[in-house]
Amino acid sequence: MRHVSLDLALDFSLHAAAGSVELTFDRPDAHAPLTLDVQGLVVTAASGADGKPRRFQVGSEDPRLGSALIVDLEPADRTVKIAYHTTDGSAALQWLAPEQTRDRKHPFLFTQGEAIFTRTWIPLQDSPGVRVTYDARILAPAGLTVLMSAEQLGRGPDGAWRFRLDKPVAPYLIALACGDLAFEPVSQRSGIWAERSLVKAARDELVDTEAMIAAAESLFGPYRWGRYDVLVLPPAFPFGGMENPRLTFATPTILAGDKSLVALIAHELAHSWSGNLVTNATWRDFWLNEGFTVYFEQRIMERLYGADRAALEQQLSWNELEKELRELEPWQQVLHMDLAGRHPDDGFSIVPYEKGALFLRRLEQLFGRPRFDAFLRGYFDGHAFQSITTADFVEFLKNQLFTQDLAAAARIDLAAWLDQPGLPSDAPRTASPALAKVDQERQRWLAGLPARELATAGFITQQWQHFIQGMPVAVSVAQMAALDDAFHFSASGNSEILCDWLVLAIRHQYRLDDQPLAKFLMSVGRRKFLKPLYTELAKTEGGLARARAIYAQARPRYHAVATGTIDKILKWQL
Ligand code: BES
Ligand code: ZN
Repeated sequence: MRHVSLDLALDFSLHAAAGSVELTFDRPDAHAPLTLDVQGLVVTAASGADGKPRRFQVGSEDPRLGSALIVDLEPADRTVKIAYHTTDGSAALQWLAPEQTRDRKHPFLFTQGEAIFTRTWIPLQDSPGVRVTYDARILAPAGLTVLMSAEQLGRGPDGAWRFRLDKPVAPYLIALACGDLAFEPVSQRSGIWAERSLVKAARDELVDTEAMIAAAESLFGPYRWGRYDVLVLPPAFPFGGMENPRLTFATPTILAGDKSLVALIAHELAHSWSGNLVTNATWRDFWLNEGFTVYFEQRIMERLYGADRAALEQQLSWNELEKELRELEPWQQVLHMDLAGRHPDDGFSIVPYEKGALFLRRLEQLFGRPRFDAFLRGYFDGHAFQSITTADFVEFLKNQLFTQDLAAAARIDLAAWLDQPGLPSDAPRTASPALAKVDQERQRWLAGLPARELATAGFITQQWQHFIQGMPVAVSVAQMAALDDAFHFSASGNSEILCDWLVLAIRHQYRLDDQPLAKFLMSVGRRKFLKPLYTELAKTEGGLARARAIYAQARPRYHAVATGTIDKILKWQL
Protein backbone atom coordinates (compact mmCIF):
# COMPACT_ATOMS: atom_id res chain seq x y z
CA MET A 1 0.00 0.00 0.00
CA ARG A 2 1.36 3.43 -0.94
CA HIS A 3 -1.37 6.02 -0.60
CA VAL A 4 -4.72 6.46 1.13
CA SER A 5 -7.30 8.92 -0.13
CA LEU A 6 -10.17 9.41 2.28
CA ASP A 7 -13.53 10.97 1.56
CA LEU A 8 -15.81 10.96 4.59
CA ALA A 9 -18.83 12.76 5.99
CA LEU A 10 -19.22 12.89 9.78
CA ASP A 11 -22.71 12.39 11.14
CA PHE A 12 -22.91 13.32 14.82
CA SER A 13 -26.55 12.28 15.19
CA LEU A 14 -25.92 8.77 13.84
CA HIS A 15 -22.44 8.54 15.35
CA ALA A 16 -21.10 7.37 12.02
CA ALA A 17 -18.61 8.37 9.35
CA ALA A 18 -19.60 7.40 5.82
CA GLY A 19 -17.98 7.69 2.41
CA SER A 20 -15.08 5.99 0.70
CA VAL A 21 -11.38 5.35 0.68
CA GLU A 22 -9.26 4.98 -2.43
CA LEU A 23 -6.09 2.93 -1.92
CA THR A 24 -3.06 3.01 -4.21
CA PHE A 25 -0.70 0.03 -4.14
CA ASP A 26 2.04 -1.90 -5.90
CA ARG A 27 1.15 -5.20 -7.60
CA PRO A 28 4.09 -7.59 -7.22
CA ASP A 29 1.64 -10.33 -8.27
CA ALA A 30 -0.87 -9.02 -10.81
CA HIS A 31 -3.21 -11.96 -10.19
CA ALA A 32 -3.32 -12.03 -6.40
CA PRO A 33 -6.40 -10.54 -4.74
CA LEU A 34 -6.00 -7.57 -2.42
CA THR A 35 -6.40 -8.34 1.28
CA LEU A 36 -7.27 -5.54 3.69
CA ASP A 37 -8.11 -5.31 7.41
CA VAL A 38 -11.58 -4.31 8.56
CA GLN A 39 -13.31 -4.40 11.92
CA GLY A 40 -16.64 -2.88 12.88
CA LEU A 41 -17.13 -1.50 9.35
CA VAL A 42 -19.90 -2.01 6.81
CA VAL A 43 -18.43 -2.25 3.30
CA THR A 44 -21.00 -1.49 0.63
CA ALA A 45 -19.03 -1.50 -2.65
CA ALA A 46 -15.60 -1.87 -4.23
CA SER A 47 -14.51 -0.49 -7.59
CA GLY A 48 -11.33 -0.70 -9.65
CA ALA A 49 -9.23 1.80 -11.56
CA ASP A 50 -11.82 1.89 -14.38
CA GLY A 51 -14.56 2.85 -11.93
CA LYS A 52 -16.35 -0.48 -12.45
CA PRO A 53 -17.36 -2.73 -9.54
CA ARG A 54 -15.01 -5.40 -8.21
CA ARG A 55 -16.12 -8.49 -6.32
CA PHE A 56 -15.27 -8.53 -2.66
CA GLN A 57 -15.86 -10.66 0.40
CA VAL A 58 -15.48 -10.13 4.13
CA GLY A 59 -13.90 -13.14 5.85
CA SER A 60 -14.79 -14.60 9.23
CA GLU A 61 -14.23 -12.38 12.22
CA ASP A 62 -11.40 -12.78 14.71
CA PRO A 63 -12.33 -10.96 17.94
CA ARG A 64 -8.87 -9.38 18.16
CA LEU A 65 -7.95 -8.73 14.55
CA GLY A 66 -11.29 -8.23 12.84
CA SER A 67 -11.81 -9.63 9.34
CA ALA A 68 -10.00 -9.84 6.04
CA LEU A 69 -11.63 -7.83 3.28
CA ILE A 70 -10.65 -9.59 0.07
CA VAL A 71 -11.09 -7.74 -3.21
CA ASP A 72 -10.74 -9.48 -6.61
CA LEU A 73 -8.77 -7.06 -8.75
CA GLU A 74 -8.26 -6.82 -12.48
CA PRO A 75 -4.58 -7.26 -13.49
CA ALA A 76 -4.28 -3.58 -14.41
CA ASP A 77 -5.67 -2.25 -11.12
CA ARG A 78 -3.26 -0.14 -9.09
CA THR A 79 -6.03 1.54 -7.14
CA VAL A 80 -9.24 0.40 -5.55
CA LYS A 81 -12.07 2.41 -4.07
CA ILE A 82 -14.02 1.03 -1.12
CA ALA A 83 -17.35 2.54 -0.11
CA TYR A 84 -18.16 2.00 3.57
CA HIS A 85 -19.48 3.40 6.80
CA THR A 86 -18.46 3.02 10.44
CA THR A 87 -20.61 1.46 13.19
CA ASP A 88 -20.84 1.44 16.99
CA GLY A 89 -18.19 -1.28 16.77
CA SER A 90 -15.68 1.19 15.31
CA ALA A 91 -13.45 1.27 18.37
CA ALA A 92 -11.11 3.99 17.04
CA LEU A 93 -13.86 6.59 17.13
CA GLN A 94 -15.06 8.27 20.26
CA TRP A 95 -18.12 10.46 19.84
CA LEU A 96 -18.56 12.83 22.78
CA ALA A 97 -21.83 14.43 23.76
CA PRO A 98 -21.67 18.20 24.40
CA GLU A 99 -21.79 17.51 28.18
CA GLN A 100 -18.46 15.71 27.86
CA THR A 101 -16.74 18.83 26.56
CA ARG A 102 -15.59 21.79 28.59
CA ASP A 103 -17.79 24.30 26.82
CA ARG A 104 -20.80 21.92 26.82
CA LYS A 105 -22.27 23.35 23.62
CA HIS A 106 -20.98 21.20 20.79
CA PRO A 107 -20.28 17.51 20.30
CA PHE A 108 -16.76 16.24 19.73
CA LEU A 109 -15.18 13.38 17.81
CA PHE A 110 -11.66 12.00 17.84
CA THR A 111 -9.94 8.88 16.56
CA GLN A 112 -7.29 6.70 18.23
CA GLY A 113 -5.45 4.47 15.77
CA GLU A 114 -2.64 2.87 17.77
CA ALA A 115 -2.19 -0.01 17.94
CA ILE A 116 -4.69 -1.74 15.60
CA PHE A 117 -7.77 0.49 15.59
CA THR A 118 -7.32 2.26 12.24
CA ARG A 119 -9.01 -0.75 10.61
CA THR A 120 -12.15 0.17 12.55
CA TRP A 121 -12.56 3.45 10.68
CA ILE A 122 -10.63 2.92 7.42
CA PRO A 123 -10.35 -0.34 5.46
CA LEU A 124 -6.62 -0.75 4.76
CA GLN A 125 -3.54 -2.86 5.47
CA ASP A 126 -3.33 -2.01 9.13
CA SER A 127 0.22 -3.00 10.03
CA PRO A 128 3.00 -0.70 11.28
CA GLY A 129 5.25 -2.38 8.69
CA VAL A 130 3.20 -0.64 5.98
CA ARG A 131 3.76 3.06 5.22
CA VAL A 132 1.40 5.35 3.33
CA THR A 133 1.02 8.97 2.40
CA TYR A 134 -2.54 10.23 2.64
CA ASP A 135 -5.01 12.91 1.70
CA ALA A 136 -8.51 13.50 2.95
CA ARG A 137 -11.71 15.37 2.29
CA ILE A 138 -13.92 15.56 5.38
CA LEU A 139 -17.43 16.96 5.61
CA ALA A 140 -18.46 18.07 9.09
CA PRO A 141 -21.41 19.98 10.59
CA ALA A 142 -21.23 23.76 10.24
CA GLY A 143 -19.49 25.47 13.13
CA LEU A 144 -17.12 22.60 13.92
CA THR A 145 -13.42 22.49 13.03
CA VAL A 146 -11.78 19.37 11.60
CA LEU A 147 -8.11 18.59 12.28
CA MET A 148 -5.98 15.71 11.05
CA SER A 149 -2.42 14.44 11.49
CA ALA A 150 -1.58 16.16 8.20
CA GLU A 151 -1.13 19.48 6.48
CA GLN A 152 -4.31 21.55 6.48
CA LEU A 153 -5.27 22.62 2.97
CA GLY A 154 -8.25 24.72 4.02
CA ARG A 155 -11.85 24.24 2.99
CA GLY A 156 -13.12 23.69 -0.54
CA PRO A 157 -16.10 25.51 -2.09
CA ASP A 158 -18.24 22.60 -0.89
CA GLY A 159 -17.30 23.39 2.72
CA ALA A 160 -15.31 20.15 3.10
CA TRP A 161 -12.04 20.21 5.02
CA ARG A 162 -9.01 19.05 3.04
CA PHE A 163 -5.73 17.55 4.25
CA ARG A 164 -2.56 15.98 2.88
CA LEU A 165 0.42 14.21 4.41
CA ASP A 166 3.15 13.67 1.83
CA LYS A 167 5.52 11.78 4.13
CA PRO A 168 4.86 8.03 4.44
CA VAL A 169 3.62 6.95 7.87
CA ALA A 170 2.26 3.76 9.40
CA PRO A 171 -1.56 3.57 9.25
CA TYR A 172 -1.94 3.84 13.03
CA LEU A 173 -0.81 7.46 12.70
CA ILE A 174 -3.75 8.58 10.56
CA ALA A 175 -5.87 10.62 12.98
CA LEU A 176 -8.82 12.98 13.00
CA ALA A 177 -10.54 15.24 15.51
CA CYS A 178 -13.61 17.42 15.14
CA GLY A 179 -15.10 19.90 17.56
CA ASP A 180 -15.46 23.55 18.46
CA LEU A 181 -11.74 24.34 18.48
CA ALA A 182 -9.56 27.42 18.69
CA PHE A 183 -5.85 27.96 18.08
CA GLU A 184 -3.09 29.93 19.82
CA PRO A 185 0.42 30.08 18.34
CA VAL A 186 3.52 29.19 20.34
CA SER A 187 6.02 29.94 17.56
CA GLN A 188 6.18 30.15 13.77
CA ARG A 189 5.92 26.39 13.44
CA SER A 190 4.09 25.41 16.58
CA GLY A 191 0.86 26.11 18.43
CA ILE A 192 -1.96 24.79 20.58
CA TRP A 193 -5.47 23.74 19.59
CA ALA A 194 -8.09 23.37 22.30
CA GLU A 195 -11.65 24.18 23.16
CA ARG A 196 -12.22 27.91 23.07
CA SER A 197 -12.36 28.55 26.82
CA LEU A 198 -9.17 26.56 27.45
CA VAL A 199 -6.87 27.50 24.61
CA LYS A 200 -5.10 30.49 26.19
CA ALA A 201 -4.34 28.70 29.44
CA ALA A 202 -3.22 25.65 27.46
CA ARG A 203 -0.85 27.78 25.39
CA ASP A 204 0.63 29.37 28.53
CA GLU A 205 1.22 25.95 30.08
CA LEU A 206 2.75 24.50 26.91
CA VAL A 207 4.69 27.57 25.89
CA ASP A 208 8.01 25.66 26.10
CA THR A 209 7.00 23.53 23.12
CA GLU A 210 9.19 25.47 20.68
CA ALA A 211 12.19 25.21 23.01
CA MET A 212 11.57 21.46 23.16
CA ILE A 213 11.58 21.16 19.37
CA ALA A 214 14.83 23.13 19.21
CA ALA A 215 16.41 20.96 21.93
CA ALA A 216 15.29 17.77 20.18
CA GLU A 217 16.74 18.95 16.89
CA SER A 218 20.07 19.81 18.45
CA LEU A 219 20.20 16.32 19.97
CA PHE A 220 19.11 14.04 17.17
CA GLY A 221 18.64 15.93 13.92
CA PRO A 222 16.09 18.06 12.09
CA TYR A 223 12.37 17.95 12.77
CA ARG A 224 11.13 16.67 9.44
CA TRP A 225 7.38 17.19 9.60
CA GLY A 226 6.93 20.94 9.09
CA ARG A 227 4.53 22.10 11.82
CA TYR A 228 4.29 20.68 15.32
CA ASP A 229 0.97 21.46 16.98
CA VAL A 230 -0.69 20.04 20.08
CA LEU A 231 -4.42 19.37 20.33
CA VAL A 232 -5.69 19.37 23.91
CA LEU A 233 -8.71 17.06 23.91
CA PRO A 234 -11.62 16.75 26.32
CA PRO A 235 -10.86 14.67 29.46
CA ALA A 236 -12.44 11.54 27.97
CA PHE A 237 -9.28 11.03 25.87
CA PRO A 238 -8.01 7.58 26.94
CA PHE A 239 -4.28 8.34 26.86
CA GLY A 240 -1.94 10.96 28.19
CA GLY A 241 -0.81 11.71 24.71
CA MET A 242 -0.71 10.26 21.21
CA GLU A 243 2.02 11.19 18.76
CA ASN A 244 -0.11 11.78 15.68
CA PRO A 245 2.18 13.34 13.04
CA ARG A 246 2.28 17.16 13.05
CA LEU A 247 -0.48 17.13 15.68
CA THR A 248 0.06 15.50 19.06
CA PHE A 249 -3.22 14.61 20.81
CA ALA A 250 -3.03 15.30 24.56
CA THR A 251 -5.18 14.91 27.65
CA PRO A 252 -6.16 18.14 29.44
CA THR A 253 -4.98 16.49 32.69
CA ILE A 254 -1.41 17.62 31.90
CA LEU A 255 -2.45 21.24 32.46
CA ALA A 256 -1.40 21.41 36.10
CA GLY A 257 -0.95 25.18 36.12
CA ASP A 258 2.77 25.02 36.93
CA LYS A 259 4.19 23.26 33.83
CA SER A 260 5.08 20.27 36.00
CA LEU A 261 3.61 17.74 33.56
CA VAL A 262 5.11 18.98 30.29
CA ALA A 263 7.38 15.94 30.00
CA LEU A 264 4.43 14.40 28.20
CA ILE A 265 4.89 16.91 25.37
CA ALA A 266 8.62 16.14 25.27
CA HIS A 267 7.61 12.49 24.97
CA GLU A 268 5.10 12.88 22.15
CA LEU A 269 7.41 15.28 20.34
CA ALA A 270 10.28 12.76 20.60
CA HIS A 271 8.07 10.26 18.76
CA SER A 272 8.51 12.52 15.70
CA TRP A 273 11.88 10.72 15.51
CA SER A 274 11.38 7.45 17.40
CA GLY A 275 8.07 6.05 16.21
CA ASN A 276 6.93 8.26 13.38
CA LEU A 277 10.22 8.56 11.46
CA VAL A 278 11.64 5.17 12.52
CA THR A 279 8.71 2.89 13.25
CA ASN A 280 8.32 -0.49 14.93
CA ALA A 281 7.69 -2.92 12.05
CA THR A 282 5.53 -5.18 14.22
CA TRP A 283 3.93 -4.67 17.63
CA ARG A 284 6.45 -7.12 19.10
CA ASP A 285 8.96 -4.33 18.49
CA PHE A 286 6.89 -1.75 20.39
CA TRP A 287 9.84 -1.05 22.70
CA LEU A 288 11.65 0.46 19.68
CA ASN A 289 8.92 3.13 19.66
CA GLU A 290 8.47 3.69 23.37
CA GLY A 291 11.85 2.84 24.90
CA PHE A 292 13.67 5.15 22.50
CA THR A 293 11.04 7.82 23.08
CA VAL A 294 11.34 7.74 26.87
CA TYR A 295 15.13 7.92 26.59
CA PHE A 296 14.82 10.83 24.13
CA GLU A 297 12.16 12.53 26.31
CA GLN A 298 14.50 12.42 29.29
CA ARG A 299 17.30 13.95 27.24
CA ILE A 300 15.00 16.80 26.20
CA MET A 301 13.94 17.33 29.82
CA GLU A 302 17.55 17.35 30.98
CA ARG A 303 18.52 19.88 28.30
CA LEU A 304 15.63 22.21 29.11
CA TYR A 305 15.17 21.91 32.85
CA GLY A 306 18.43 20.44 34.12
CA ALA A 307 19.81 17.12 35.40
CA ASP A 308 17.99 17.28 38.76
CA ARG A 309 14.58 17.39 37.12
CA ALA A 310 15.52 14.57 34.75
CA ALA A 311 16.79 12.48 37.67
CA LEU A 312 13.57 13.06 39.58
CA GLU A 313 11.43 11.73 36.74
CA GLN A 314 13.82 8.82 36.20
CA GLN A 315 13.69 7.67 39.80
CA LEU A 316 9.89 7.88 39.88
CA SER A 317 9.72 5.77 36.73
CA TRP A 318 12.14 3.25 38.21
CA ASN A 319 9.88 2.86 41.23
CA GLU A 320 6.87 2.34 38.99
CA LEU A 321 8.73 -0.21 36.89
CA GLU A 322 9.79 -2.19 39.96
CA LYS A 323 6.22 -2.20 41.20
CA GLU A 324 4.78 -3.29 37.87
CA LEU A 325 7.38 -6.00 37.32
CA ARG A 326 6.13 -7.67 40.49
CA GLU A 327 2.65 -7.96 38.99
CA LEU A 328 3.28 -8.78 35.32
CA GLU A 329 3.52 -12.23 33.81
CA PRO A 330 7.02 -13.19 32.62
CA TRP A 331 6.19 -12.79 28.91
CA GLN A 332 5.03 -9.22 29.56
CA GLN A 333 8.40 -8.38 31.14
CA VAL A 334 10.29 -9.12 27.92
CA LEU A 335 11.23 -6.21 25.64
CA HIS A 336 10.99 -8.24 22.44
CA MET A 337 7.72 -9.76 23.57
CA ASP A 338 5.88 -12.70 22.10
CA LEU A 339 2.47 -11.50 20.89
CA ALA A 340 1.49 -14.64 18.98
CA GLY A 341 -2.24 -15.19 19.51
CA ARG A 342 -2.50 -12.03 21.60
CA HIS A 343 -3.80 -8.51 21.11
CA PRO A 344 -1.01 -5.91 21.11
CA ASP A 345 -2.80 -4.19 23.97
CA ASP A 346 -2.25 -7.27 26.19
CA GLY A 347 1.46 -6.51 26.00
CA PHE A 348 0.96 -2.89 27.00
CA SER A 349 2.75 -2.02 30.23
CA ILE A 350 5.48 0.24 31.52
CA VAL A 351 8.10 -2.38 30.49
CA PRO A 352 8.65 -1.36 26.84
CA TYR A 353 8.84 2.24 28.08
CA GLU A 354 11.13 2.12 31.09
CA LYS A 355 13.07 -1.09 30.60
CA GLY A 356 13.59 0.04 27.00
CA ALA A 357 14.90 3.43 28.13
CA LEU A 358 17.12 1.83 30.79
CA PHE A 359 18.66 -0.40 28.12
CA LEU A 360 19.55 2.66 26.05
CA ARG A 361 20.84 4.53 29.09
CA ARG A 362 23.03 1.52 29.88
CA LEU A 363 24.46 1.67 26.35
CA GLU A 364 25.08 5.39 26.79
CA GLN A 365 26.89 4.65 30.04
CA LEU A 366 29.08 1.96 28.47
CA PHE A 367 30.03 3.79 25.27
CA GLY A 368 29.94 7.35 26.54
CA ARG A 369 27.49 10.05 25.62
CA PRO A 370 29.32 11.52 22.58
CA ARG A 371 29.57 8.13 20.85
CA PHE A 372 26.07 7.10 21.80
CA ASP A 373 24.59 10.38 20.57
CA ALA A 374 26.36 10.05 17.23
CA PHE A 375 25.06 6.48 17.01
CA LEU A 376 21.48 7.58 17.66
CA ARG A 377 21.75 10.39 15.15
CA GLY A 378 22.91 7.82 12.58
CA TYR A 379 20.08 5.48 13.63
CA PHE A 380 17.39 8.08 12.90
CA ASP A 381 18.99 9.29 9.66
CA GLY A 382 19.76 5.78 8.47
CA HIS A 383 16.21 4.48 9.02
CA ALA A 384 14.18 7.59 8.30
CA PHE A 385 10.69 6.73 6.99
CA GLN A 386 11.33 3.03 7.49
CA SER A 387 9.68 0.42 9.71
CA ILE A 388 12.23 -1.83 11.42
CA THR A 389 12.33 -4.88 13.69
CA THR A 390 14.30 -5.56 16.86
CA ALA A 391 16.65 -7.74 14.77
CA ASP A 392 17.29 -4.79 12.42
CA PHE A 393 18.15 -2.67 15.44
CA VAL A 394 20.51 -5.28 16.89
CA GLU A 395 22.33 -5.59 13.59
CA PHE A 396 22.74 -1.81 13.34
CA LEU A 397 23.86 -1.67 16.97
CA LYS A 398 26.54 -4.31 16.43
CA ASN A 399 27.82 -2.77 13.21
CA GLN A 400 27.73 0.88 14.19
CA LEU A 401 28.34 1.01 17.94
CA PHE A 402 29.85 -2.26 19.15
CA THR A 403 32.66 -2.07 16.59
CA GLN A 404 33.78 1.23 18.12
CA ASP A 405 34.59 -0.23 21.54
CA LEU A 406 34.77 -4.01 21.76
CA ALA A 407 35.54 -3.97 25.47
CA ALA A 408 32.35 -2.01 26.18
CA ALA A 409 30.39 -4.27 23.84
CA ALA A 410 31.56 -7.35 25.76
CA ARG A 411 29.97 -5.98 28.91
CA ILE A 412 26.39 -5.92 27.72
CA ASP A 413 24.19 -9.02 27.68
CA LEU A 414 21.80 -8.39 24.79
CA ALA A 415 19.76 -11.52 25.42
CA ALA A 416 19.17 -10.50 29.04
CA TRP A 417 17.94 -7.09 27.95
CA LEU A 418 15.87 -8.09 24.94
CA ASP A 419 14.62 -11.62 25.45
CA GLN A 420 14.42 -12.28 29.16
CA PRO A 421 11.95 -11.19 31.84
CA GLY A 422 12.92 -8.98 34.76
CA LEU A 423 15.45 -6.19 34.95
CA PRO A 424 19.12 -7.00 34.20
CA SER A 425 21.47 -6.35 37.09
CA ASP A 426 23.37 -3.66 35.17
CA ALA A 427 20.28 -1.45 34.78
CA PRO A 428 21.44 2.08 35.60
CA ARG A 429 19.68 3.44 38.65
CA THR A 430 19.29 7.17 39.20
CA ALA A 431 18.96 8.67 42.66
CA SER A 432 17.14 11.98 42.90
CA PRO A 433 18.07 14.35 45.73
CA ALA A 434 14.68 16.05 45.31
CA LEU A 435 12.96 12.76 46.10
CA ALA A 436 15.34 11.96 48.96
CA LYS A 437 14.14 15.19 50.52
CA VAL A 438 10.56 13.99 50.14
CA ASP A 439 11.42 10.70 51.89
CA GLN A 440 12.93 12.73 54.71
CA GLU A 441 9.80 14.85 55.16
CA ARG A 442 7.55 11.78 55.07
CA GLN A 443 9.72 10.18 57.76
CA ARG A 444 9.47 13.27 59.94
CA TRP A 445 5.71 13.17 59.66
CA LEU A 446 5.53 9.45 60.43
CA ALA A 447 7.70 10.14 63.48
CA GLY A 448 5.06 12.53 64.76
CA LEU A 449 5.76 15.98 63.35
CA PRO A 450 2.46 17.71 62.40
CA ALA A 451 1.87 17.78 58.64
CA ARG A 452 1.71 21.55 58.57
CA GLU A 453 5.24 21.80 59.88
CA LEU A 454 6.80 19.76 57.07
CA ALA A 455 9.13 21.58 54.67
CA THR A 456 7.02 21.06 51.58
CA ALA A 457 7.18 24.59 50.18
CA GLY A 458 8.05 24.44 46.50
CA PHE A 459 7.19 20.75 46.07
CA ILE A 460 6.27 20.02 42.45
CA THR A 461 3.74 17.43 41.27
CA GLN A 462 6.22 14.55 41.17
CA GLN A 463 7.39 15.23 44.71
CA TRP A 464 3.82 15.14 46.01
CA GLN A 465 3.30 11.92 44.10
CA HIS A 466 6.37 10.41 45.72
CA PHE A 467 5.21 11.65 49.12
CA ILE A 468 1.91 9.80 48.68
CA GLN A 469 3.25 6.71 46.89
CA GLY A 470 5.81 6.09 49.62
CA MET A 471 3.28 5.89 52.46
CA PRO A 472 3.67 2.72 54.53
CA VAL A 473 0.89 0.13 54.65
CA ALA A 474 0.01 1.03 58.20
CA VAL A 475 -1.51 4.47 57.89
CA SER A 476 -4.67 5.14 59.89
CA VAL A 477 -7.80 6.90 58.75
CA ALA A 478 -7.01 9.64 61.26
CA GLN A 479 -3.60 10.10 59.70
CA MET A 480 -5.15 10.27 56.23
CA ALA A 481 -7.52 12.95 57.49
CA ALA A 482 -4.63 14.91 58.98
CA LEU A 483 -2.78 14.86 55.67
CA ASP A 484 -5.89 15.89 53.80
CA ASP A 485 -6.45 18.77 56.23
CA ALA A 486 -2.96 20.05 55.75
CA PHE A 487 -2.52 19.51 52.01
CA HIS A 488 -6.09 19.28 50.60
CA PHE A 489 -5.26 16.29 48.44
CA SER A 490 -8.93 15.30 48.00
CA ALA A 491 -9.60 18.70 46.47
CA SER A 492 -6.51 18.73 44.26
CA GLY A 493 -7.05 19.96 40.73
CA ASN A 494 -3.90 18.07 39.73
CA SER A 495 -5.01 14.70 38.33
CA GLU A 496 -1.70 12.94 39.02
CA ILE A 497 -1.76 13.90 42.69
CA LEU A 498 -5.49 13.30 43.01
CA CYS A 499 -5.24 9.85 41.43
CA ASP A 500 -2.40 8.72 43.71
CA TRP A 501 -4.26 10.10 46.71
CA LEU A 502 -7.53 8.39 45.78
CA VAL A 503 -5.74 5.04 45.41
CA LEU A 504 -4.40 5.50 48.95
CA ALA A 505 -7.83 6.62 50.17
CA ILE A 506 -9.49 3.49 48.78
CA ARG A 507 -6.77 1.29 50.29
CA HIS A 508 -7.24 2.81 53.73
CA GLN A 509 -11.02 3.08 53.52
CA TYR A 510 -10.77 6.83 53.91
CA ARG A 511 -13.87 8.92 53.02
CA LEU A 512 -15.48 5.88 51.45
CA ASP A 513 -18.74 7.49 50.45
CA ASP A 514 -17.31 10.78 49.41
CA GLN A 515 -17.65 12.50 46.09
CA PRO A 516 -14.16 13.23 44.68
CA LEU A 517 -13.65 9.64 43.51
CA ALA A 518 -16.99 9.30 41.69
CA LYS A 519 -16.60 12.73 40.18
CA PHE A 520 -13.11 11.94 38.92
CA LEU A 521 -14.17 8.60 37.44
CA MET A 522 -17.14 10.23 35.73
CA SER A 523 -15.18 13.00 34.06
CA VAL A 524 -11.72 11.62 33.26
CA GLY A 525 -11.28 8.82 30.74
CA ARG A 526 -7.48 8.48 30.86
CA ARG A 527 -6.78 4.78 31.25
CA LYS A 528 -3.63 5.36 33.30
CA PHE A 529 -5.86 6.83 36.05
CA LEU A 530 -8.88 4.57 35.67
CA LYS A 531 -6.90 1.37 35.88
CA PRO A 532 -5.31 1.77 39.35
CA LEU A 533 -8.50 3.22 40.82
CA TYR A 534 -10.81 0.45 39.62
CA THR A 535 -8.14 -2.14 40.47
CA GLU A 536 -7.86 -0.87 44.04
CA LEU A 537 -11.65 -0.75 44.41
CA ALA A 538 -12.00 -4.30 43.11
CA LYS A 539 -9.83 -5.65 45.94
CA THR A 540 -12.70 -5.65 48.47
CA GLU A 541 -16.29 -6.76 48.11
CA GLY A 542 -17.73 -3.39 49.07
CA GLY A 543 -15.27 -1.60 46.82
CA LEU A 544 -16.15 -3.80 43.88
CA ALA A 545 -19.85 -3.11 44.32
CA ARG A 546 -19.13 0.59 44.45
CA ALA A 547 -16.85 0.39 41.41
CA ARG A 548 -19.56 -1.38 39.43
CA ALA A 549 -22.16 1.19 40.41
CA ILE A 550 -19.93 4.05 39.25
CA TYR A 551 -18.84 2.16 36.13
CA ALA A 552 -22.42 1.50 35.07
CA GLN A 553 -22.80 5.25 34.71
CA ALA A 554 -19.32 6.13 33.55
CA ARG A 555 -18.74 3.37 31.00
CA PRO A 556 -20.60 5.06 28.10
CA ARG A 557 -18.25 8.02 28.61
CA TYR A 558 -15.05 6.02 28.16
CA HIS A 559 -13.17 5.15 24.97
CA ALA A 560 -13.11 1.50 23.84
CA VAL A 561 -9.42 1.11 24.86
CA ALA A 562 -10.36 2.09 28.40
CA THR A 563 -13.48 -0.08 28.64
CA GLY A 564 -11.46 -2.98 27.22
CA THR A 565 -9.17 -2.75 30.24
CA ILE A 566 -11.75 -1.91 32.92
CA ASP A 567 -14.26 -4.57 31.77
CA LYS A 568 -11.65 -7.18 32.65
CA ILE A 569 -10.83 -5.66 36.05
CA LEU A 570 -14.50 -5.53 37.08
CA LYS A 571 -15.46 -8.75 35.24
CA TRP A 572 -18.09 -6.67 33.51
CA GLN A 573 -20.77 -8.63 31.65
CA LEU A 574 -22.37 -6.88 28.71
N1 BES B 1 2.05 6.05 21.71
C1 BES B 1 1.69 6.16 23.07
C2 BES B 1 0.24 5.89 23.33
C3 BES B 1 -0.23 4.50 22.93
C4 BES B 1 0.55 3.38 23.12
C5 BES B 1 -1.47 4.35 22.38
C6 BES B 1 0.09 2.13 22.73
C7 BES B 1 -1.94 3.10 21.99
C8 BES B 1 -1.15 1.98 22.17
C9 BES B 1 2.04 7.54 23.64
O1 BES B 1 3.19 8.10 23.10
C10 BES B 1 2.31 7.37 25.10
O2 BES B 1 3.21 6.64 25.43
N2 BES B 1 1.56 8.04 25.97
C11 BES B 1 1.74 7.98 27.41
C12 BES B 1 2.43 9.20 27.92
C13 BES B 1 3.90 9.12 28.04
C14 BES B 1 4.44 10.38 28.66
C15 BES B 1 4.43 7.90 28.74
C16 BES B 1 0.37 7.98 28.04
O3 BES B 1 -0.61 8.12 27.30
O4 BES B 1 0.27 7.86 29.24
ZN1 ZN C 1 4.94 7.05 23.64
